[in-house]
Amino acid sequence: MSKIDWANLSFSYIKTDYNVRSYFKDGQWSELEESTSEQLTIHMAATCVHYGQEAFEGLKAFKGKDGKVRVFRMEENAKRLQKSAEGILMEPVPVDLFNKAVIRAIELNMDYVPPYESGASLYIRPLLIGSGPKVGVSPSDEYTFIVFVTPVGPYFKEGFKPTKLMINRKFDRAAPQGTGNIKVGGNYAASMVAGKIAHEKGYSAVLYLDSREKKYIDECGPANFFGIKDNTYITPLSNSILPSITNMSLVQLAEDMGMKVERRPIEFAELASLEEAGACGTAAVISPVGQIDDVEEGKSFHYGEPGEPGPISQKLYKKLRAIQYGDEPDTHNWVTVI
Ligand code: PLP
Ligand code: COI
Repeated sequence: MSKIDWANLSFSYIKTDYNVRSYFKDGQWSELEESTSEQLTIHMAATCVHYGQEAFEGLKAFKGKDGKVRVFRMEENAKRLQKSAEGILMEPVPVDLFNKAVIRAIELNMDYVPPYESGASLYIRPLLIGSGPKVGVSPSDEYTFIVFVTPVGPYFKEGFKPTKLMINRKFDRAAPQGTGNIKVGGNYAASMVAGKIAHEKGYSAVLYLDSREKKYIDECGPANFFGIKDNTYITPLSNSILPSITNMSLVQLAEDMGMKVERRPIEFAELASLEEAGACGTAAVISPVGQIDDVEEGKSFHYGEPGEPGPISQKLYKKLRAIQYGDEPDTHNWVTVI
């Protein structure tokens, strides 16, 4: 293992020692296999390659001050992968197999869990693909489930500093009754052009409006959106956004702090009245949003002091991180100690 500069990690792939795999064939899942290979050999007519029969997950493990490694809300990711599988007719991975695979992948790569002081974490990427051959558009008879891990730093380069989002009505990431609410590769392919334009213009992500009316806020790139107003945590209710496990956790933490919570359609015009805005997700954690530009309409929305996350975003961020790193008690049973 070469030396890793833990404190300066970005969100990118670093090779680790092992990954784990299970194969679905003849109606059953195989025992977990440990692999040292970074390669996959699959049939050239596999449904994942042609027809996008592919879903993935993202979760994190954190090393605490006490040296223990904690994985955050693994069961929720297991359940979401099942929903994603059902949404594109793949064989769902049993929750037990998912949990076992995640734990095994962490245990086999303990040296890659970033130290407590670095503020970095181990990103865990479970992956489910249709690996059997079909030429007609129909689901595969065989599936491959893999879990690999890689140490990561912040997803948006600003880390926990305000970032800028761009509204672009020319692109949708998902159709109103499409696959936006599950975590399938096609959604991410569909977001790449808009994402590239946003990056080239100096924005960290696209803030998508709903695909049907372009009236409501959907989500921002690979993260959910939230706003704060009148001591209320407000987050979009929409059929075409991914139900974020981080967002679900922040809703709970906001309630614990005595805030009100509203999960409802958020009209685009309401951006003007928010006191704070943020993007949240496993990779993004909480990324405070300092500015949203609507280039087409020539509008710009600003939140908080330049360079400073808002006070409620800070409180939520600290609380979430404290639970993840084991600095504060895990009163909701979100954490599995490895
Ligand atoms: N929205 C999208 C499109 C995502 O890819 C992610 C990342 O998983 C999220 C939201 C955040 O979800 P979570 O908090 O479960 O990571
Ligand atoms: C995550 O937050 O886990 C994601 O999957 C986001 C992204 C890297 C796709």
